[in-house]
Amino acid sequence: MSAWQLCGVPLGGPILNGSGTFDAIAARRAFGDALLEAFPFDLFVSKTITLEPREGNPPPRLWETPAGMINSIGLPNKGLEGFLAHDLPRLAELPVPLCVSVMGFSRAELELLVARVAERDEVSLLELNVSCPNVETGLIMGAHPGETAAALERLRPLCDKPLVVKLTPNATDPAEVALAAEGAGADAVSLVNTLTGMALDPRTRAPGLGGRTGGLSGPAVRAVALAQVAGVAARISIPVVGMGGVSSGPDAADLIACGAAFVAVGTESFRDPAAGRRIGEELRELGVDAPRLSPQTA
Ligand SMILES: Cc1cc2nc3c(=O)[nH]c(=O)nc-3n(C[C@H](O)[C@H](O)[C@H](O)COP(=O)(O)O)c2cc1C
Repeated sequence: MSAWQLCGVPLGGPILNGSGTFDAIAARRAFGDALLEAFPFDLFVSKTITLEPREGNPPPRLWETPAGMINSIGLPNKGLEGFLAHDLPRLAELPVPLCVSVMGFSRAELELLVARVAERDEVSLLELNVSCPNVETGLIMGAHPGETAAALERLRPLCDKPLVVKLTPNATDPAEVALAAEGAGADAVSLVNTLTGMALDPRTRAPGLGGRTGGLSGPAVRAVALAQVAGVAARISIPVVGMGGVSSGPDAADLIACGAAFVAVGTESFRDPAAGRRIGEELRELGVDAPRLSPQTA
């Protein structure tokens, strides 16, 4: 039996990618089968898919900041059907289990996404990206415990695969949202998503990003991630996947010390596509390799 299990899914180690920060299909094109022989992560999380295809935001979409970057990518994707037909078969060739990230703009959309994705054998877990407005209520699902619980209660009966709720840091109290998610049947939570940020073009003083605002990530958010992971992990008993500004083994060890059972690497993979593997090795050198079992299997 594998030493590492996320909600019963055996993994080779504790390192995941942050959704949307590593394009495994493009990396396979660039690096060929060498990517599969030394895959940087122990579990692959897809970029977030939506029900309908999306073009994403107008450019520029990335802005470098001191110790981080702001992205306003706007979730471009092929939509559910395009993903199932074209991307899923290629992601299923990766040598690690697959988690598919979904986002719905209403509970009905989320239900359809979860039901269709969960029935595919290639998928081991689902991640719910709840950082978007619910068009029915105008509220950001993941910013309100009641919204999160109401969505989970409808999704839980549709899916017997583990559901991970990706928490947004742009909430008054992410721990309350995590508690609500756990109470409504979530199997794990992951955090932090990006922090809302803005950059101005120095020549015009107008917003520099095509989407006006975007999400701040990288080392600039690491202190926030540590505080939020510690705050959430202290309140819930389901596993926590910690992320936010991790670029080294010691950074990952800090998140684990704050209560994360698993660590995801995001922005650092833009600088070093092999960062996930390096950070896993650095963690092992630090001796942070004790088996961690999710409550279902412990
Ligand atoms: C370019 C970019 C795209 C992202 N796309 C997604 C996404 O599709 N879904 C999602 O849940 N999070 C997305 N994120 C957030 C990351 O998964 C992660 O939560 C965040 O960047 C913090 O980790 P980091 O500081 O290590 O990058 C994205 C982040 C970046 C930088």
